[in-house]
Amino acid sequence: MFLKKNSILLAPLAGITDPVYRRICRRLGADAVVTEMVSADGLHYKSENTAKLMVFDESERPIGVQFFGSDPERLANAARFAHERVNPDFIDLNAGCPVAKVVRNNSGSALLKDAALFGKIVKAMSQAVPVPVTVKIRSGWNTHDWVDIKFAQIAEENGAAAVTLHPRSQTMMFTGRSFWERIAAVKQAVSIPVIGNGDINNAADAMKMFAETNCDAVMIGRGTLGNPWVFAEIKSALNGEPFTPPSLQERKTLIIDHIRAFRELHGEQRACGEMKKCVAWYLKGLPNASATRAEIFTSSSSVSIEEIICRFFGF
Ligand SMILES: Cc1cc2nc3c(=O)[nH]c(=O)nc-3n(C[C@H](O)[C@H](O)[C@H](O)COP(=O)(O)O)c2cc1C
Repeated sequence: MFLKKNSILLAPLAGITDPVYRRICRRLGADAVVTEMVSADGLHYKSENTAKLMVFDESERPIGVQFFGSDPERLANAARFAHERVNPDFIDLNAGCPVAKVVRNNSGSALLKDAALFGKIVKAMSQAVPVPVTVKIRSGWNTHDWVDIKFAQIAEENGAAAVTLHPRSQTMMFTGRSFWERIAAVKQAVSIPVIGNGDINNAADAMKMFAETNCDAVMIGRGTLGNPWVFAEIKSALNGEPFTPPSLQERKTLIIDHIRAFRELHGEQRACGEMKKCVAWYLKGLPNASATRAEIFTSSSSVSIEEIICRFFGF
């Protein structure tokens, strides 16, 4: 497998897993990361803002660039373009996104409605580049009307190097629980590696997913927010070693580093807007944090967010 057995991957999260966050997660133990989804149509129309989403730092490797779209030729061209321009370690096809503006264009999880088109896309992308092409799917469009086995098999037949399964339906969006037994079923049905995804929040969850599904790797999204140390926690569990949670000093240092690196990469306007929710995630669950979180949301600059953080930690 192009990823080590029992790898722990950071999931693509649009608007969140930017280069700064991916670097943090790699440093804290993520074995691989994926860019947020990049529009193949956007690249076709030469959008520089779209192309920017593919950019990463060498320290983020191994990294995959993820594309969404519905046209086999555009997706193959996007894969080729990414290979030539940024040379990622793998390329991922998004066949799982449930949001309206994506499925409206027959992309994301809408691909799960058209097996022939899905096969054509995977084949075109796999043949376009010398690096592995992976696919990320949901279990189906309607709950219990599962097509995950069929689509994982089609992906394998058409050259995919691995399949990530988020076992929810499109109609569930992000509600309810993911059906981990679907990951076990897909693992039994294909020979390519299966990456299990959905509702992992800590090491116990990850170990449970490995044990219950026999998946080759796990991918974590929301469970990393405010807690990128979850990767180190899972690594320790896999190695049978005790895990020491981050000290307040480590937590504070990471928050400040995150804000500064984000500001340097994206500028003050975005830093002030986007760091508020991000810092609030880091403070979640800490004693007496709610007033501080409220104060952060009224900040008018990222520097004032830093000041509030320093005051909160008191050192
Ligand atoms: C805010 C947000 C943005 C997301 N963006 C993407 C994306 O760009 N590409 C993708 O394949 N999945 C995306 N997802 C889905 C996640 O990658 C993941 O499959 C899902 O959140 C389930 O995993 P989790 O329970 O570990 O979060 C997104 C999810 C959220 C909540």
